Amino acid sequence: MKIGVFCPIGNNGWLLSENAPQYMPTFELNKQIVQRAEHYGFDFALSMIKLRGFGGKTEFWDHNLETFTLMAGLAAVTSKIKIYATAATLVMPPAIVARMASTIDSISNGRFGLNVVTGWQAPEYSQMGMWPGDEYFGKRYEYLSEYVQILKELWATGQSDFKGEHFQMDDCRVSPQPQSEMKIICAGQSDTGLEFSAQHADYNFVFGKGLNTPTAYAEINDRLKHFTDQTGRDVQTYVLFMVIAAENDAKAMAKWQSYNDGADVEAINWLMNQGGKDTKSGTDTNIRQMASSVSPVNINMGTLVGSYEKVAAMLDEIAEIQGTEGILLTFDDFVQGVEDFGERIQPLMKSRQEVVAEYQPTQTLEKSA
Ligand SMILES: Cc1cc2nc3c(=O)[nH]c(=O)nc-3n(C[C@H](O)[C@H](O)[C@H](O)COP(=O)(O)O)c2cc1C
Repeated sequence: MKIGVFCPIGNNGWLLSENAPQYMPTFELNKQIVQRAEHYGFDFALSMIKLRGFGGKTEFWDHNLETFTLMAGLAAVTSKIKIYATAATLVMPPAIVARMASTIDSISNGRFGLNVVTGWQAPEYSQMGMWPGDEYFGKRYEYLSEYVQILKELWATGQSDFKGEHFQMDDCRVSPQPQSEMKIICAGQSDTGLEFSAQHADYNFVFGKGLNTPTAYAEINDRLKHFTDQTGRDVQTYVLFMVIAAENDAKAMAKWQSYNDGADVEAINWLMNQGGKDTKSGTDTNIRQMASSVSPVNINMGTLVGSYEKVAAMLDEIAEIQGTEGILLTFDDFVQGVEDFGERIQPLMKSRQEVVAEYQPTQTLEKSA
């Protein structure tokens, strides 16, 4: 089972709450988190792109670093962990993104890959006059499909003459080409998104569901398999969960309760309002489900709350689900969360024993010394 960290590139990570840790995103913070994650054998670090926040008392995500430049910096200060940035494909031409990816491939010695997103929140783009209109919701994955074909041509051959509905290349060049095969992540939840992943992506990231229901998201693996059966490609899911852990269940649950009690209602209302705007992509997208969620204090992502033992057991349950290759983690407090994961949770996980053998937690070393 692979494990990754979803870098807190925006303020306050993924908790829209006045009672959650309040912090700004900085390179130093992300460097500390990703270097410690690398130390504990995390397989990858991913950062999203967010161009407009939700406001509210906590100014949620009003403060966000830029993903390629952040990940380029992190690539330079790490040596093993894989590094993924996210391309906002509506506003970043594929030839520029292909070249930036080649550059970070060079900085990281072949450890870089790309998450490609269509965009779902119009104000991120309309604020710069670059939202194509709401009809875009209905064809976002056709657009992305052309985009990714161009990236792949440029990386594979250094040249593209691709002609499509959205892009026309004219002997477009990118060199140097990446030294490693550039892996593509898509995070589609709708059938259209999953079909895209089955055709073009290497991994599909999905939202975990519910509170302490680690396997509740599993149906999406079946939906993805329906499409990979058609394309014959091996694309598995990586599932996103927030971990809130403590010495015992009661302490962990008290933290979760407190975050909910301090929910930033104004920011949550913005999220729900924006999430409801896509009426063209079907009802099965998580973004739409957010619009009807009762308390999306952590953007309604799957949440694992409990003692270190309980969280380890739930993560092992996820590892058993067919079609799941990895887990992407967020934490209420990222610095403490990565330490607790490395020292107290991962050593208890059956699905991470090979990693633990390689990266002995400090406590184990201290005990055996
Ligand atoms: C792990 C993960 C990362 C994501 N990163 C971004 C991002 O950086 N920017 C963005 O606009 N959307 C992001 N999304 C949203 C997805 O790209 C996608 O639009 C969403 O999951 C809804 O699926 P659909 O596009 O199939 O409707 C992310 C989703 C997940 C699960």
